[in-house]
Amino acid sequence: MTGITELGYVRFGVSDLAQWRDFASDLLATEIVDEGEAGRLYLRTDSWHHRIILEEDGTDDLTGAGLRVAGAEEFAEMQARLKTAGVAFEKGSQELAADRRVLDIITLQDPAGNALEIFHGPQVDAYKPFHPSRGMFGRFVTGDGGVGHMILRNNGLDRAYEFYKMLGMRGGVEYKVPGPQGETREVLFMHCNSRDHTVAFGPPSNKSINHLMIEVDNVDDVYLTHERVQASKYPVMIGLGKHANDHMFSFYFATPSQWLVEIGTAGRPATHQSEYYTRDTYGHVFSADLGPGMSIDKT
Ligand SMILES: [Fe+2]
Repeated sequence: MTGITELGYVRFGVSDLAQWRDFASDLLATEIVDEGEAGRLYLRTDSWHHRIILEEDGTDDLTGAGLRVAGAEEFAEMQARLKTAGVAFEKGSQELAADRRVLDIITLQDPAGNALEIFHGPQVDAYKPFHPSRGMFGRFVTGDGGVGHMILRNNGLDRAYEFYKMLGMRGGVEYKVPGPQGETREVLFMHCNSRDHTVAFGPPSNKSINHLMIEVDNVDDVYLTHERVQASKYPVMIGLGKHANDHMFSFYFATPSQWLVEIGTAGRPATHQSEYYTRDTYGHVFSADLGPGMSIDKT
């Protein structure tokens, strides 16, 4: 079955674009691309025109997850599949596609109202070598694994599973962990390529996004970023540690928009048989402020 091939790009609405520019250049190390469009910046992590779009609209949340399909045939097939499944979507105009630097685009929402943009044909600026905004020991890991992974809001793990399975992803519950009231909390992970997971669902959140993970290929960049974050005003929210499912060595810190970025390395490829874990391999201690809900959004 054809389906989504990667999380190609992500759009975020922000309150303070200048603050985000500093955050992205000092901490994330992504390349900043300013094309003079009012209220908009692009972040690059490889040769694509962008992997992240920041727009100053005050939402401080995910405003679009760009999910890629392989080409025009798969794009048409995906629209037919959505129609059969009774999922509403809007065919994007050529102006919208040009705005996102893709060949074709449709917009829709998942069952929990997360904004999705299914596209094919991203603009790849092969002439323009990736240039991080500050020194890095290595590079970001994208390739066929896409920009990274996200935990998104859900309104039921079964609904999320059925929806993303319909889009062509595989996965299942990989964590059963104790919740704050002694209940068992489950976390669902879905993959569509070699990356262990592209979207995941579980923690309660008032925002569409809980966190965006971006991967680096050198552990020194995890420690360098950790040191820079500790010296910044942005709190580390989950300390250094290793996940049991994707083996990612990582930590989490707050963004200016009060959702989290996870910087990690050494993730293993997606497994093809299901299994689950009751805790991480080591570390990943939550900060006292974070609480056991894995959400920094307390409002
Ligand atoms: Fe993650």
